Amino acid sequence: MNVYYIPLFQLWKINLGPNHVSWHIGPMPAAATIDMLQSCSFPAIRRLRLTNFRSYGALDFRTGSTLIALTGENGAGKTNLIEALSLLSPGRGLRRAEMAACARAPGSTGFAISVDLDGPYGETRLGTGTEIAYPGSNPVRRYRLNQANAGSARAFADHLRVVWLTPSMDGLFTGAAGERRRFLDRLVLAVDADHASRTNALERALRNRNKLLEASPGNGAWLDAAEREIAELGVAVTAARNETVARLAALIAATKDENSAFPWAIVALEGEIDRLVANYPSLEAEDRYRGLLRDNRGRDAAAGRTLLGPQASDLVVSHGPKEIAASQASTGEQKALLTGLVLAHARLVASMSGIMPIILLDEIAAHFDPLRRSALYGELQSLRAQVWMTGADPALFAEIAGCADILQVRTGAVSPLEG
Ligand SMILES: Nc1ncnc2c1ncn2[C@@H]1O[C@H](COP(=O)(O)OP(=O)(O)OP(=O)(O)O)[C@@H](O)[C@H]1O
Ligand SMILES: [Mg+2]
Repeated sequence: MNVYYIPLFQLWKINLGPNHVSWHIGPMPAAATIDMLQSCSFPAIRRLRLTNFRSYGALDFRTGSTLIALTGENGAGKTNLIEALSLLSPGRGLRRAEMAACARAPGSTGFAISVDLDGPYGETRLGTGTEIAYPGSNPVRRYRLNQANAGSARAFADHLRVVWLTPSMDGLFTGAAGERRRFLDRLVLAVDADHASRTNALERALRNRNKLLEASPGNGAWLDAAEREIAELGVAVTAARNETVARLAALIAATKDENSAFPWAIVALEGEIDRLVANYPSLEAEDRYRGLLRDNRGRDAAAGRTLLGPQASDLVVSHGPKEIAASQASTGEQKALLTGLVLAHARLVASMSGIMPIILLDEIAAHFDPLRRSALYGELQSLRAQVWMTGADPALFAEIAGCADILQVRTGAVSPLEG
């Protein structure tokens, strides 16, 4: 069976045999999801070296496993280690840290992360880190692919993708919309490496308009130009979000299991610009958004910011089986829902990029009752992704001891768990 996707027309063509072709319009059909997962690659990190990265002076360790559990007391360096892996994807990693904060204190001016990956192109070495050109200057981020310099983490996208779930995401459904937008933009970025440049450009354009509204509100020509740029970028950002959410929703619908320990989610975008993009062709949506910006100059000037646009959208998530807003679910249900969403996203990344992402789960096991924990391990094994988990208590990983690398982290060193 071969599956082709024709994005412009949202059209799926599935070759089911010599004389049988099936066409689908709109969201991804179940057959496509399943077929694409069968043909994707499953990259795994085989060796990790850290130099002056946070609590690690010099770490060099190898793993042969798909499931890896890092245990150790609070402050041992478990999250630091998976943060290092998250920095192999575009952006500032799972803590959204300033790079200067990642260099080992006291005394280090830069850090280095290097992994040997068993990836889609065989053994590949990926590295990133920071350097300081001269004392007192800001650290410069560097990337290396098989010993050659690379421009950015975008160059790694053909080799590995990384997704994560951390305790700081626990309040995602009840907290501010800005956190959900950031989460959403990371979902998009994992499938569309150009999304970061779009969102960054939009932020710059919005800052520019806000400055103009404050400093020269009477300069219509400048504002027109700034708003034209915002409208183009805003529609592009929204369309990319919209596409990812639609595909994620379709994948969840195609693979949902009413009895799963991880309830399926209903995901949707909400916002004025999202409605425009959903209801009008791109050019018309841009014109209408530009018109709204022009009409609201006075209001935005008074507010000191641009009120309408992708920067005001929200990702709305509901608990599918219970038909309630995610924010109304219990703490444990929200965690299970979010876990299900992250695992569905991993499948989406795999089906769209052909690369199963490496999954980082910080403090995941402690949150779940024993049944859910078992179910999680089962799901992770069926996904076949390389998964790095952390948990202070080794007992949480006892049931996967036979099939996982259970490691102990202790003051800058990692070793197999004793006993
Ligand atoms: N730049 C740095 N240089 C040196 N040490 C650092 C740096 N940044 C963080 N640390 C230290 O690294 C230690 C380990 O942090 P980490 O978050 O990895 O611990 P953890 O094992 O995940 O603990 P917990 O179980 O509490 O989550 C902390 O004591 C922290 O102070
Ligand atoms: Mg931690």
